[in-house]
Amino acid sequence: MLYKNPTAPLPARVEDLLERMTRSEKIAQLTQTFVYDDIREPVKSNIRKQGLGSRILALSNLAGNVTERIAEVEDLNELQRVAVEESRLGIPLLHGRDVIHGHRTVFPIPLAMAASWDPALVEEAFAISAREAASAGVHWTFAPMLDIGRDPRWGRIIEGFGEDPYLAARMASVAVRGIQGPKSEEGGPPFAPDRLLACAKHYIGYGAAEGGRDYNTAEISDNTLRNVYLPPFKAAVEAGVGSVMSAFHDLNGEPASGSRYLLTDLLRGELGFQGFVVSDWGSVYELTAHRVAADRREAALLAFDAGVDMDMCSDCFGDHLAELVESGAIPESKLDDAVRRVLTAKFRLGLFEMPYTDPQRGPQVQFTDEHRAVAQRLAARSLVLLKNNGILPLAKDAHRIALIGPLAEQRRALLGSWVNDGLIGETQTLLEAFQAACPQAEILSGGGPLTDEMLMAAARADVVILAVGESNARNGEANCVASLDLPAGQDALIEAVHGLGKPMVLLVLAGRPINLPRAVALADALLYAWHPGSLGAAAIAEVLFGETVPSGKLPVSFPRAEGQIPIHYNHKSTGRSTTQYHDLPSTPLFPFGFGLSYTTFSYRNLGVSPSEIQSGKCVTVSVTVTNTGTCAGEEVAQCYVHDCVASVTRPERELKGFVRVRLEPGESQRVEFVLGPDELSFYGRDGRWRLEPGLFKVGVGGDCRAELAVGFRVLAPA
Ligand code: BGC
Repeated sequence: MLYKNPTAPLPARVEDLLERMTRSEKIAQLTQTFVYDDIREPVKSNIRKQGLGSRILALSNLAGNVTERIAEVEDLNELQRVAVEESRLGIPLLHGRDVIHGHRTVFPIPLAMAASWDPALVEEAFAISAREAASAGVHWTFAPMLDIGRDPRWGRIIEGFGEDPYLAARMASVAVRGIQGPKSEEGGPPFAPDRLLACAKHYIGYGAAEGGRDYNTAEISDNTLRNVYLPPFKAAVEAGVGSVMSAFHDLNGEPASGSRYLLTDLLRGELGFQGFVVSDWGSVYELTAHRVAADRREAALLAFDAGVDMDMCSDCFGDHLAELVESGAIPESKLDDAVRRVLTAKFRLGLFEMPYTDPQRGPQVQFTDEHRAVAQRLAARSLVLLKNNGILPLAKDAHRIALIGPLAEQRRALLGSWVNDGLIGETQTLLEAFQAACPQAEILSGGGPLTDEMLMAAARADVVILAVGESNARNGEANCVASLDLPAGQDALIEAVHGLGKPMVLLVLAGRPINLPRAVALADALLYAWHPGSLGAAAIAEVLFGETVPSGKLPVSFPRAEGQIPIHYNHKSTGRSTTQYHDLPSTPLFPFGFGLSYTTFSYRNLGVSPSEIQSGKCVTVSVTVTNTGTCAGEEVAQCYVHDCVASVTRPERELKGFVRVRLEPGESQRVEFVLGPDELSFYGRDGRWRLEPGLFKVGVGGDCRAELAVGFRVLAPA
């Protein structure tokens, strides 16, 4: 049988197998299901009869915050054996799992990864996640999550790379490469054994949910959809992402999982996506709740016709595709196309050759010293110093430190939501990490809510480190807030500690921007730590005690109050400059790209060359960055571009390049950014990607407020 021959070309194997399949075997490949004890035997018997496309390793669609092992390797192998050895054609199952920011080694949440502005390290983190998950029998991860997030009320802002299309697109491509390995053509060689199939989600515009309420309707103009929300997906497709997940929500009058425009015309037609589309959990069935389908049969027809290839957990395809093909509502050739795409993924993953997982492998590759070191490094780089009056770094011989606050002794909250396989017991608390980092100090601890004991500890200390913020349970899927204030009681705690007159370092753990004006006013220093992962506590200790100089930068604007939402740096110009509030400035509390260091940096001699280019050519922007402080440090130099006049409205400025530079005190380095058609083009009124001649201004600096001090001209084509 040709399809079983590993040396035959992949497309030929797919065709050979497809020709042998009955219609019900084909439809089974387009079905994803979860397995729990009560339905295990019926699932097995279905697999024997017709096979199964994919088993999802989750028991509910809110798996991330309900950390639970779903299946051990033996369990996965057992069901796989039924598929491979007891079904007619022996097509292996595809095991899908949400490996969002790490498997057993938990990395910082993706929003924090973006705050590192370190694509190479982020790629390593995703590669490690893939290696660890593969060793546990996972073949396919529902990552990376590429939703642009402009609304911190939305709990899933933690899962994406922030507000900016350029930064998110850079992270999207390294995430896909980390998960799948270097790009190879469809039909090319299989992935390496330590890699997984990636899934870009939630396609598209899911982060623009009205009111920041998860799953809610979004209205996004075509201009904004293409220029802001599409770039990370485009980057993922260019990096060869093997699957895309269609989102739950209604976008511009069509649920994303039932939109032919989004899934077929834009994704396949324009972006050239070749992999397969999986629905989100139950989103095919939910077309009935959106009331664009009267029943499950219509939902199956609408979703399939729009371009969904695999139905995640709603069984609408399984129950109705056969009849829909029979009746001619769906052409057999379209069914074959969808099956081809799923089979191609299985062949590329090498599942026909290696369907089983070696139970010995996991313990050898998970949570190794090497993986932990990367997690700590990435966590340290993702921490953002928002205020420092000179109190940080703390001297190592610091005498008596009070480490208090609701998050001071927690382990789970350090990991963040979407943790399925990280072990809480393996996660150091802040107290443990501080004791290890600073054994000579006396550390007075106190977790939980405000208590007399906590304040007594603070009163006795020379310096207070107050760990406040959100637990993992307060963000992530379906966890939205109307107020960005710190959770109840925490502001009072900050006030009370401040009242003691002790130097106070605020450590904020959170998955989203939090309202901080009062906290910033009262604190001597504020380190924003997100949910930093398994090694987060050690990374925080490293930074607070000065072993590592902070270098993280915000991937999202921090509003002064919820009333400013949506607030993002890349807004459009208005006709009048008087779009101010009576009661607040219109600027954010902390702008996109902002983050302090223990040293300072200056930017001088900004230049651009040449000053005129033919359309299609590149300019080089250069600037001298100098470490003007007293310790070595790393700076993320950011290049912003302003398109002076265009045929559609364009953002006031857009990030178009960034680079990390490490500088000793007094050292300077000339850094360069190349801007060409990719950076200067945009989607125009007709939805086409275009480069328009004219003037551009450029600025380079340490955050999005960089002065746009030089310019160049793109000449009209002769
Ligand atoms: C989420 C997806 C996730 C899926 C499977 C859904 O509820 O929206 O992000 O991949 O569940 O767990």
